[in-house]
Formats: sequence, C-alpha cells, structure tokens
Amino acid sequence: MNSSPTVVLGIGSYAPERCLTNAELSRRVDTSDEWIVSRTGIRRRRLAREDESTSDLAVHAARKALQDAGTAAEEIDLVVVATITPDMAFPSTACQLQHKLGLRNVCCFDLEAACSGFVYALDAADAMVRSGRYRRALVVGAEKLSGIIDWEDRSTCVLFGDGAGAAVLAADGDGPRLEGFLCGADGSNPSLLCQPAGGAAMPATEQTVRDRAHFLKMNGREIFKNAVRVMEDAGKTLLKRHGLTPDDVDHVIPHQANARIVESLSQRLGVPIEKFYCNLENYGNTSAASIPLAMDEARRAGVFEEGELGLLVAFGAGLTWASALIRF
Ligand code: ACO
Repeated sequence: MNSSPTVVLGIGSYAPERCLTNAELSRRVDTSDEWIVSRTGIRRRRLAREDESTSDLAVHAARKALQDAGTAAEEIDLVVVATITPDMAFPSTACQLQHKLGLRNVCCFDLEAACSGFVYALDAADAMVRSGRYRRALVVGAEKLSGIIDWEDRSTCVLFGDGAGAAVLAADGDGPRLEGFLCGADGSNPSLLCQPAGGAAMPATEQTVRDRAHFLKMNGREIFKNAVRVMEDAGKTLLKRHGLTPDDVDHVIPHQANARIVESLSQRLGVPIEKFYCNLENYGNTSAASIPLAMDEARRAGVFEEGELGLLVAFGAGLTWASALIRF
C-alpha cells in the first residue's frame, strides 16, 4: 500500500443546458419563488433533455476532467460512477461510460451512496490506486434526478436538478492531495428517503405505477435534522483523527442540498459560513454530482490557493455520510 496521498490530477463538470426557474416551477405546482428561496436557497436547476441519460452527462464531465488532468483516455484503468439514477439497473453506468469514452481494459463499477456517493467513490478509488493495482482512476458523480422526481409533488420537485462532475486520480503527479476519509451509514430507516418501487423488494406492476411508487419519496423534516447531525459528526471526527481543528480548515465544500442545512452545519462545525463554497442556488440538489460540480466551479473561480485545506462533507439516502480532507 502506497502511504503517500493520492493526487487529483484533474477535475471537470457538466450541467445540462435547460434551466428551470422557480417561477416556471410555480406554474406547474402550488409553490412560489419566495417559498423555495426562503426554505432552500434554490433559485433554478438544470434539467437533462429526454434523450440525454446519466452516462451522457458523465461523458461530458469525464472528458473535461481528462483534459484538465492532461491524461489520455487510454491511461484510465479504473472507472467508478457514483449515482442513484443509473441509465439502467444493469449493466452499470460505469460500463456505459467506459464504452462512450472508448476505454479498454478497465475495471468499471457503479457505487450507490446517494448524495454521499462522490466522496464514497473517491475513498474507494483512493484505496484502489494506493494498493498499486490501478494507475489512473476516473471517479464520476452523475445524476439525472429529473427522471425519478414526481413533478406533481411540490415537497420534492423543487429541490433537485441534473448534472455531473468527475475527477482523475493517480498515485503521483501534480495536483491537490487526498489526505483522509470517513464514510459511514445507518440503514435503520430506509423510508426516510427512497425510491420504493422497481427493485427486487417491489417489482414494477401497474399498481406501483398508479401509486407513483417509482418516484423519489422523502421525509424532508427528518432528513434535515439527520443531515445536520451526521455531517457535523463526519467533519469533526475526521479532523480530530488527523490532529486538526475546524480552525485549520480553509474551505468547506458541502453537499449542496439546502442553504439552511449549510448554515446550521457552519454553526455546529464552528467554521464561518464565508469558508463554505455554495452553488446550490443555480443547480439545486444534484446528489452525487453536487460536490464535484461545486469543487470544479470554485477551482475555476480561483477560490483555492495552493497549500490550503479543504473539507468535503456529505450526507444522503441510506442514510449515508462521508467526509474527506483535500490539500490544494
Ligand atoms: N411550496 C410551498 N409550500 C410547500 C412546498 C413548496 N414547494 N413544499 C412543502 N410545502 C408546505 C408543506 O405542505 C407544509 O405545509 P403545511 O404546514 O400546511 O402542512 C409547509 O410547507 C411546511 O413543510 P415542511 O416540510 O415542514 O417544510 P420545511 O421547513 O421542513 O422545508 C424542506 C421542507 C425544504 C424539504 C426541508 O425539510 C429540507 O430541506 N429537508 C432536507 C431535504 C434534503 O436535503 N434532501 C436531500 C437529501 S440528499 C439525497 O440523498 C437525495
């Protein structure tokens, strides 16, 4: 096992063109721009075209990450796609992506940890690269959540959007370094946030379609409370394990679910809100794509200085949670 930290050689992201504003949404369901902005901070979100699937979004982000890394596609020998909206239940979206990028001789798999998925996937790929068995990993968070949203349910349809983000990892080279991870889960209450039908427990029937059971269901209030608690714990515990304190953190890139969750997290972590990078206003919650989308945007805006410490922190359906330390 290589003990030196894995390097992020490059990152990239992609958001589909179509932009759906709160004003447009309030013509579809009984809601308002004022309600959505005050409860969530979200103003607009991007939606994939009908003929654009999750792997199509992933291809765009992956190509940008490869270009940023200066890595030829043929050098990739590991592809991990974090998603809860795979093109199909199987084969994996990672296999679709592999084909679309024209890669050969690669290990490909999907990883499902909902909104914590990208950080989970970074953790897995980091370990696989440090094992010495893989040289260049392509890690992607990609979602077409618009495909599983109930557009008649105002309590969920205002929250989500589509997008993708990607990173290229290697054992050595120039770039930010992954210095530590913490991933966890509590599967005791899956109904808090789930897509009930379509899996082995509830196969598709005419009744499941009539019951709208193929759409995302969420208990927003409970998720909110749990999100703040588990993200605080994931952040603090990881920092402590590395002999660091919240004062050592220069930037927090949180999962972009809700501005109020981010504000509570800032208070509970004891890291000022100015150190949090947020773009949820423009994209909504893009689940596994949210952290790489934010990280790529922040980096292009010149937010990170060399040597600074970043904390990635996420929570998602499962419940899952994950945090990571990145030295820019
Ligand atoms: N427009 C107008 N009114 C609405 C809307 C809407 N879009 N949605 C709900 N309401 C109403 C409700 O019906 C309710 O009305 P009532 O009091 O007459 O019953 C009222 O607003 C309050 O509803 P709450 O659900 O209590 O509102 P809350 O302040 O909790 O905000 C929200 C709801 C925004 C969903 C919040 O709970 C939240 O952000 N939760 C976390 C969600 C989240 O982050 N999920 C992503 C998880 S990550 C993953 O893995 C995908």
